[in-house]
Amino acid sequence: MTEDVVRVGLLGCGHVGSALVRLITENGDAIESRAGVRLEIAKVAVRNLSRERDVALPSSIFTNDSASVVGDPDVDIVVEVIGGIEPARELIVEALKAGKPVVTANKELLSNVGKELFEAAEGAGVDLLFEASVAGGVPLLRPLRESLAGDRIHRVMGIVNGTTNYILTRMSESGASFTDALAEAQSLGYAERDPTADVEGFDAAAKAAIIATIAFGARVVAGDVYREGISELTDADIASARDLGYTVKLLAIAEEDATGVAVRVHPTMIPVQHPLASVRESFNAIFIEAEAVGELMFYGRGAGGEPTASAVLGDLIDAAKNLVSGGRGATIGALVRKPIRPIDAVETQFYLQLEVADQPGVLAEIAAQFGQHSVSIKSMQQVGIGADARLIFITHRAREADLRATVHALRDVSSVHRVGSVLRVMGDEPA
Ligand SMILES: NC(=O)c1ccc[n+]([C@@H]2O[C@H](COP(=O)([O-])OP(=O)(O)OC[C@H]3O[C@@H](n4cnc5c(N)ncnc54)[C@H](OP(=O)(O)O)[C@@H]3O)[C@@H](O)[C@H]2O)c1
Repeated sequence: MTEDVVRVGLLGCGHVGSALVRLITENGDAIESRAGVRLEIAKVAVRNLSRERDVALPSSIFTNDSASVVGDPDVDIVVEVIGGIEPARELIVEALKAGKPVVTANKELLSNVGKELFEAAEGAGVDLLFEASVAGGVPLLRPLRESLAGDRIHRVMGIVNGTTNYILTRMSESGASFTDALAEAQSLGYAERDPTADVEGFDAAAKAAIIATIAFGARVVAGDVYREGISELTDADIASARDLGYTVKLLAIAEEDATGVAVRVHPTMIPVQHPLASVRESFNAIFIEAEAVGELMFYGRGAGGEPTASAVLGDLIDAAKNLVSGGRGATIGALVRKPIRPIDAVETQFYLQLEVADQPGVLAEIAAQFGQHSVSIKSMQQVGIGADARLIFITHRAREADLRATVHALRDVSSVHRVGSVLRVMGDEPA
């Protein structure tokens, strides 16, 4: 390594990798004058050497032997944008052990085996940066790690999956069904042919685990995250929420109190006045509540080659500057094992819809079930549907376990013909 040239070994040259190469090529001079380092792509590993790529690089630097990139003495920093667990995990650990800083965008890897990677980085005393792994181009992890390092974060709530946000926007604004909105998202390339990871909340849960890890300095893996997706939501739920002044969003919520850390992903009714309610289409946004700074929100493109490459490049410049100066910038500190609160212990407000016989005494019978399970009703609306009535309840804050017990008991009440959707509500009550 010459004094100000940092040579990059790139693992993967797909959507993100090729956009990164283009950004480095186009902005190289500006990066050098701003950051004092010149980035040079030294080697690129791909799976298929014969694939056409829209990057201005000589074919001689491409290889399908990714280990040779990591092991090349001319490579100073490794960028991993292959995705998946293996061989990405092995390659990153290898690079860190060799004292090479690593930048990755790999949420799957970090949310499952992050601990091993953090320890390898700590052990080797080199940077491991992963801003792009959560919310693509939206800066979040660095602000959490650096700008808010001295504050106490209470809660982070994020719309961190663009596919589901697009689907929910269509359902909400055009009255489309889930199936039709998903088909539209697929035709526009926002959703995969197999949309399970997005619509069932797995992708958001992986990001929620990374957010909780950084926000609370806790060891949180994807398996610790309670998860519900959006595939069960009906257009009637969305319309009913709208009538009550709410928008439904898939939220990743990480919160900490004296009893531990709770991390969950589920559809949530958000009051239309809340800033997260106005995040439309495939955009992402993350809302932070912290002791001293109060409320903060970050908004932008959570996916796409260029936005994601922008975040990768920010990390790369950071790591390159640290390498040149002989320092380290990016430690996440010691992660501690904090108690993970089970979903049953989490408190929130709820929306609950019942179809009941429209006759005297029914309301009292139903209200008694709520009362017996310590769930207090905040508001109730009644709509006539023939001989039946539809009752829509919003509760005060209640424990998830108590709400479940209430629902269970209501199913045994003879005048309750159907227990419809149950949704969590972002309320106006203090946490
Ligand atoms: N795309 C986004 O919007 C986005 C947003 C946030 C985070 N990310 C993350 O960024 C990473 C990359 O995503 P992407 O969309 O760029 O993926 P992609 O388009 O599928 O690109 C993957 C690249 O890795 C290469 N590759 C696959 N297996 C390999 C192996 N065993 N050895 C060497 N190279 C291998 C592929 O080679 P070939 O080209 O020869 O097939 C391809 O160039 C993932 O972790 C993803 O989760 C992506």
